[in-house]
Amino acid sequence: MLRRVVRRLAEEKVAPRAAAIDEEDAYPWDLKELFAAQGLLGAGVPEEYGGTGQGLPGVCLIVEEIARVSATASLIIAAQELGLMPILIAGNEEQKQKYLPPLAGGEKICAFALTEPEAGSDAGSIRTRARKEGDKYVLTGRKCFITNGGIADVYVVFATTAPEKGLKGISAFIVEKDYPGFSVGRKERKMGVRGSPTAELIFEDCPVPQENLLGKEGDGFKIAMATLDRTRPVVGAQALGIAQGALDYALGYAKNRVQFGQAIASFQGIQFMLAEMATKVEAARQLVYKAAFFIESAVQKGGASREEISRYSSMAKLFASDVAMEVTTDAVQVLGGYGYTKDYPVERMMRDAKITQIYEGTNQIQKLVIARSLLGK
Ligand code: CAA
Repeated sequence: MLRRVVRRLAEEKVAPRAAAIDEEDAYPWDLKELFAAQGLLGAGVPEEYGGTGQGLPGVCLIVEEIARVSATASLIIAAQELGLMPILIAGNEEQKQKYLPPLAGGEKICAFALTEPEAGSDAGSIRTRARKEGDKYVLTGRKCFITNGGIADVYVVFATTAPEKGLKGISAFIVEKDYPGFSVGRKERKMGVRGSPTAELIFEDCPVPQENLLGKEGDGFKIAMATLDRTRPVVGAQALGIAQGALDYALGYAKNRVQFGQAIASFQGIQFMLAEMATKVEAARQLVYKAAFFIESAVQKGGASREEISRYSSMAKLFASDVAMEVTTDAVQVLGGYGYTKDYPVERMMRDAKITQIYEGTNQIQKLVIARSLLGK
């Protein structure tokens, strides 16, 4: 039922806006409002904190269906899930009661601020500093590539409270956009997911109340990793949706495009491409939802090790994002010269697919996580 409802919403309200969002590179506030009104931004948040409590499979389904027509629009939901997840995982009751309901309801937007210029894949080497001064922490440093940077109201920021302890000195803080000393720097000009702002964040002696520390000092790295364990399948779902959208478009095109006196779908060369694309999409779907149900069940009932959770999460993102890149590239090929133009959606889908192999950990990092889990280290 959820899939049917979201697909209809996506086709009626999101698809007609997709090309313009990409072209104008402007955040679609109207769609954020629409998703908020439909309760889609709080799908991963339990009902007691203002969400609809659909869990990870529900979030994946919503993101998949929206990504099928617009990756940028689906990122509104995926980025909210990423930003609020550290609060859901590590927040105390007071923090959850204060921050989760407005985020679940979509009145406020959030962001996850981990990456720095010198700390991308090596997330443990962040340098943003949080010094304890009386009843507050003072943050100094820079973050980069932050999705929702500049439009978010609430940022979960990772900073070191004890540089000498390496990644065990990292702590997580909730920072509100109007705290003094916080500002937004350069906005990136990107290949894809245009319309979703990605920006630099600057902290110049930014005071953060001590009650905004998530968990304990030094818990930050584990909070970040546990968050990504629960959000990487959402990137997998986004990749799956992009791939499904490209496959659907290529199928329709192949049935109508006539060359050599017949529809190109009647040629075995095209049929084999479509068959391979559809098989990959279905395999990605099985893995994404296997991971989503496995992780949701582990979170609710236990019974799985941390390594197993990480492995499924990384496998889902790795496989689905590679499928998205392959299938969108093939979709452009099926459309030939037309596929290469902006008059057809598959070139946008191909550009959008690329980021799913990069963000929330590059696919090389996913392989490292999977291998470590297999090898037991
Ligand atoms: N859950 C809980 N704890 C975990 C964990 C997990 N999934 N993974 C590791 N840890 C713990 C380890 O147990 C270890 O603690 P102990 O020593 O107490 O056992 C500690 O964290 C350090 O772990 P590692 O030794 O494995 O750390 P590492 O330095 O080798 O790095 C890594 C691991 C997997 C490479 C990690 O740095 C990583 O995931 N890097 C990619 C970063 C990333 O995904 N960035 C994306 C940013 S968000 C984004 O892209 C969105 C956007 O806005 C664009």
